[in-house]
Amino acid sequence: MSHLHQPQPNPLEDLDQWEADVVERYPEPGKPSEEFRNYGEDTRAGVKEFYRLNHRYQTLDFVRQKQAQFLPLRQSQMTVWEAMEFLNQLVDDSDPDTDLSQIEHLMQTAEAIRADGHPRWMILTGLIHDLGKVLCLFGEPQWAVVGDTFPVGCRFSDRIVLAEYFDDNPDQADARYNTPLGIYQPQIGLSQVSMSWGHDEYLYQVVKDRMPEEALYMIRYHSFYAGHRESAYDHLMNDHDQQMFHWVRLFNPYDLYTKSDQRPDVQQLRPYYEELINEFLPGKLNW
Ligand SMILES: [Fe+2]
Ligand SMILES: [Fe+2]
Repeated sequence: MSHLHQPQPNPLEDLDQWEADVVERYPEPGKPSEEFRNYGEDTRAGVKEFYRLNHRYQTLDFVRQKQAQFLPLRQSQMTVWEAMEFLNQLVDDSDPDTDLSQIEHLMQTAEAIRADGHPRWMILTGLIHDLGKVLCLFGEPQWAVVGDTFPVGCRFSDRIVLAEYFDDNPDQADARYNTPLGIYQPQIGLSQVSMSWGHDEYLYQVVKDRMPEEALYMIRYHSFYAGHRESAYDHLMNDHDQQMFHWVRLFNPYDLYTKSDQRPDVQQLRPYYEELINEFLPGKLNW
């Protein structure tokens, strides 16, 4: 794939613009979507351009190429806290006074899970779930880091956001990949299915031997809206996936609806979270 002809690889003002768009698509029940944020035409155009690139370039070949590039996990060695501080460099082209930093989003998610009395591994999941976005700092374009994820190697569901942009994806014209099952068997199970490349899969690979399976599902599929919100891929999921998606769906509102202007006190909360990190993910991890 040539990088020379990508017109504008990073059309979002920042990565949070994608998540704000998801919230508009899936507003919190009982709340008018305007409460979150009002986006103008320019922002909307940025989000659409972002999805145009994402849907055009996320092919099975591209995913295999990124797996080969990143899954040896030879980019860096960082503790979880170091990764949080590294990711915080992504803040922020837009408005640092009102926009949350990446650490603040992670802590708000974790604090909301904690306030509802969920287990410690789930609080930690809230804290780390977006750390795969460090891919951006390794030079990857936005469309290969964030955005809704979806299976590749089979037909793209028309329930994926802005699915018309898949018309430009070469896999859609490839007879091996454009049937409902494509290269897969019915109900083969998501562990056998390649997902579009991004921060979910990458972080899953970093922590997969150290977190409970429920946490790993939350991390690996939290951006798979066509799966956990639209149930558009039941033909690939097995019974175990269906059971585990209970946890993915439990997690999603904490990710989407806990952003508030009240900033968490990062330094005050840090000792609690350092202890939690040490319980499950001590020391340096391979990234
Ligand atoms: Fe995320
Ligand atoms: Fe998130």
